[in-house]
Amino acid sequence: MALKIAVLKETAEYEARVATTPETVKKLIAKGFEIYVVSGAGLPASYIDSEFEAAGATLSADNDKAAKDADIVLCVQSPATLPKMKKDALLIGMLSPYGDTQRISAYAQAQITALSMELVPRITRAQAMDVLSSQSNLAGYKAVLDAATYYTRAFPMMMTAAGTIAPARVFVMGAGVAGLQAIATAKRLGAIVSATDVRPAAKEQVQSLGASFVMVESDEMKQAETAGGYAKEMSDDFKRKQATLVAETIVKQDIVITTALIPGRPAPVLVTEDMVKSMKAGSIIIDLAVEQGGNCTLSKPGEIVDVNGVKIIGFHNMPSRIATDASALYSRNLLNFLGILVDKDGALALDMEDDIVKATTLTKDGQIIHPNFQ
Ligand code: NAI
Repeated sequence: MALKIAVLKETAEYEARVATTPETVKKLIAKGFEIYVVSGAGLPASYIDSEFEAAGATLSADNDKAAKDADIVLCVQSPATLPKMKKDALLIGMLSPYGDTQRISAYAQAQITALSMELVPRITRAQAMDVLSSQSNLAGYKAVLDAATYYTRAFPMMMTAAGTIAPARVFVMGAGVAGLQAIATAKRLGAIVSATDVRPAAKEQVQSLGASFVMVESDEMKQAETAGGYAKEMSDDFKRKQATLVAETIVKQDIVITTALIPGRPAPVLVTEDMVKSMKAGSIIIDLAVEQGGNCTLSKPGEIVDVNGVKIIGFHNMPSRIATDASALYSRNLLNFLGILVDKDGALALDMEDDIVKATTLTKDGQIIHPNFQ
């Protein structure tokens, strides 16, 4: 019997993405799955019902009807109301496990197996399933376009008969996946780009994109990266040195894009009120970390804060602002992930010894089994 996959209509505010696209529906059907998509689920991301049907999906009226008989339920974010699902069915999505531990208990009580895509480990074998990378990359790109939209000057240098326009100076703080894409995008638009990070490995990556690297000279940076490639919280002494360097750098910038995150902790504060006040009127700060507390002390989720003509932009859910491509990449991440959950005969085969399965499974057999959430 073919496994049934249900694709939910998202319920979270500011969420325009969808967990599958007609392209991945076709591929899943070719692998032997039956696909049920909730009517209208793809519309905010510009994928219409008739395209899903043409790809071979069956439309369902709502989340409950789609999920009722499904073996696997796919979502972007955890649904506000968990639809009734079969015992031991899989719920797969960006379930934001650190944000809401009560919900994890609800998955256990519902006797479903919940797998959280943000927990996919950053190992080579899992790269094609890495939703943090696929979504952050697009967020970095969109952040620069948003900056360009609100900036009342041009990005590139332009030499015209009426005189020369100076290029914009863009400073990217945090050169991980989002930051590196922001650098590349700002360079393509013709800006003069610089960037900073606490991980020394970032220096070469920033420079290879043609941007200059601004860094605190400190031995502490040698230990700033965890084995997983993430940043650590830095010492107070380092933070003071970094603040001085940032203050000197930021005053010369037109656009600042902040992307700095430390897993499981609030985002580090990098841009203070004084620094904002030192910037020229018309400058733009895009705080991609706003939903994790913000890298700028003045940013507010979902708002554009204006301080003496400097706009601090804290849009919600940046990947959702580019929902068509974000959905396309996310659904391919899910397609690749499903590949390790199903055996060659098309039956569910959860290998709890597999590093990726082990790292992502929150609940199973009525229990919370992930060690971080017990
Ligand atoms: P992230 O989203 O956790 O953080 C963004 C950036 O902020 C990071 O580069 C981090 O070093 C930086 N940061 C943190 N605190 C800072 C501070 N106080 N000042 C300045 N910068 C600060 O990181 P992301 O983008 O998820 O990437 C983390 C790492 O994972 C990188 O080393 C990346 O190359 C690596 N990676 C590996 C993958 C794989 O092997 N499959 C896939 C994707 C990323």
